[in-house]
Amino acid sequence: MSSSNLTIQSAIKLNSGYEIPRLGFGVYQVPIEQAESCVREALTAGYRHVDSAVGYRNEAPCGKAILDFSSNKASSNAAAATSREQIFFTSKVRPLNLSYESAKTQVDATLSETGLGYIDLMLIHAPYGGPAARKGAWKALVEAVDAGKVRSLGVSNYGVHHLDELEAYIRELEAERGGAKGQGGVISVGQWEVHPWLPRDDIVSWCRARGIVVEAYCPVVRGERAGETVLQELAAKYGKTWAQVLIRWSLQKGHVPLPKSVTSSRIRENAEVYDFEISEEDMAKLETKEYAPCAWDPTTSPLDK
Ligand SMILES: NC(=O)c1ccc[n+]([C@@H]2O[C@H](COP(=O)([O-])OP(=O)(O)OC[C@H]3O[C@@H](n4cnc5c(N)ncnc54)[C@H](OP(=O)(O)O)[C@@H]3O)[C@@H](O)[C@H]2O)c1
Repeated sequence: MSSSNLTIQSAIKLNSGYEIPRLGFGVYQVPIEQAESCVREALTAGYRHVDSAVGYRNEAPCGKAILDFSSNKASSNAAAATSREQIFFTSKVRPLNLSYESAKTQVDATLSETGLGYIDLMLIHAPYGGPAARKGAWKALVEAVDAGKVRSLGVSNYGVHHLDELEAYIRELEAERGGAKGQGGVISVGQWEVHPWLPRDDIVSWCRARGIVVEAYCPVVRGERAGETVLQELAAKYGKTWAQVLIRWSLQKGHVPLPKSVTSSRIRENAEVYDFEISEEDMAKLETKEYAPCAWDPTTSPLDK
């Protein structure tokens, strides 16, 4: 789809065959007692995709907000028309003590915490723990897909060296499980910190070549770049905020941005990015070639760590 046709309903077909909504709502550091109301506000504003993780400790209220909204307990017309199937929920296996067992246990725990019946997307949160840990966790997730517990799989914070290792392992696992295509699992999504000051061209190209969707975390750079001249100029030119310019940039790059906010006005603001288009010339002004993470950066971790 060309970026000028984007709407809040836009979705991309994944390698798994399922669809992922183009805009996600991130809930990292959303306190447990606020998460249910924040997710409800996001769903009311039109988001259909929630990005949580076992490590965020707020899966239960996210699940409750999704179930209430889709079972029509939320009092709005949008809620009345939305089924569970139309809301995409992501969780992530904790990066600590990664293993076959820990991944298997966490899928079951997420299902029981959220009550969602299935998890749309399960990611390995970070590539820590060495090859056996990463491969074991992947195998457990592949089995969870077969069991109908998870629909699509992916990884987060993997460097190209970790991705190459995973690709080779998928072929090995496929052979081990009988050789039928897909038996080793399918990478549908990768999630990384991506914004103009960390475009990650190498990882993005690796994913594009394989039809893997790139999710962009910290899409508004946690507010740290609000004062950049280029953002101020583009915000004034398009009559939007600097945050809306960054989210629109991410969408036009073909990514799935995951802005987080606990502030009602910002939750809505971050979804109001479909009434303007950044020109090619202005997109070029946002090409910085910098490598400046604002969060952690496990992509550089060596294979044996
Ligand atoms: N896989 C990973 O390792 C990983 C790592 C980090 C993040 N993530 C995911 O990506 C999501 C987003 O990343 P993030 O939360 O670190 O960063 P972010 O979305 O770039 O920034 C969130 C921060 O920016 C503020 N903010 C949001 N919208 C704003 C706006 N329109 N104007 C001004 N300030 C605004 C928020 O404030 P308020 O909340 O106070 O409004 C919050 O402090 C996370 O929630 C999580 O789901 C994944």
